[in-house]
Amino acid sequence: MIILKTRQEIAAMRDSNRIVAEILQRIGELIKPGVTTGELDQVADKMLRAAKAKPAFKGYRMRNNKPYPACICSSVNEEVVHGIPGPRVLKEGDIVGVDVGSIYKGFVGDAAITYAVGEVDAEAARLMGVTRESLYKAIERCVHGNRLLDVSSAVQDHVEPNGFSVVREFVGHGVGRSMHEPPQIPNYKTSGWNPRLEVGMTLALEPMVNQGTWRVKLLDDEWTAVTADGKLSAHFEHSVAITENGPLVLSEL
Ligand code: MF3
Ligand code: CO
Repeated sequence: MIILKTRQEIAAMRDSNRIVAEILQRIGELIKPGVTTGELDQVADKMLRAAKAKPAFKGYRMRNNKPYPACICSSVNEEVVHGIPGPRVLKEGDIVGVDVGSIYKGFVGDAAITYAVGEVDAEAARLMGVTRESLYKAIERCVHGNRLLDVSSAVQDHVEPNGFSVVREFVGHGVGRSMHEPPQIPNYKTSGWNPRLEVGMTLALEPMVNQGTWRVKLLDDEWTAVTADGKLSAHFEHSVAITENGPLVLSEL
């Protein structure tokens, strides 16, 4: 069952996601060679507190059943998603996916951006560009009357002709009072559930795109997903509401 939100609930989700967007913007200003991912996490922690919001990720359990230890995920280079922030120093030429989650007014805000650290090579920049574009193509399909797999196809149909691959193991998701609500939102065509999109649905779209194989593996920390071939990966995420007037991106300033 997909939980539809009222206009008031969508307004609350907008507020939660605005906090996330402000944190992502601030982190974007701070990312440069020499900064550690742990420092970025501290910034998120402080900003969440200042906004009277709670971190959505800290303590969250997924398949591994280990509580996630931080406020952000920071996934560097071949790390796809769920990298744990810590002493790692970012260096010139790295790319880093930063994912932030808040809980505010009872609703989860969830968004992610992949940033360049200093100057990156042309293929890394192209990977980030294509991934970001694929997210916006998916957002355009978030119109009532369309079906879920129209959104999924938009990502795949942009990514693959550009020579990159779409991660299969992780997907986008419905979002609301819980971080992960139905439906799951694959970034590729599947034969699975294909509900019609309705006004009031709130979806976290999050394409994860690899330079080489779409296959991933999990590191021993049981959180960090990395590409199976060690090539680069990029990730962008927005939380989006389906309204009478089309898609409303909740996590954009
Ligand atoms: N945006 C990610 C997701 O929707 C963030 C989850 S990190 C976790 O799955 F640690 F909380 F799992
Ligand atoms: Co998400």
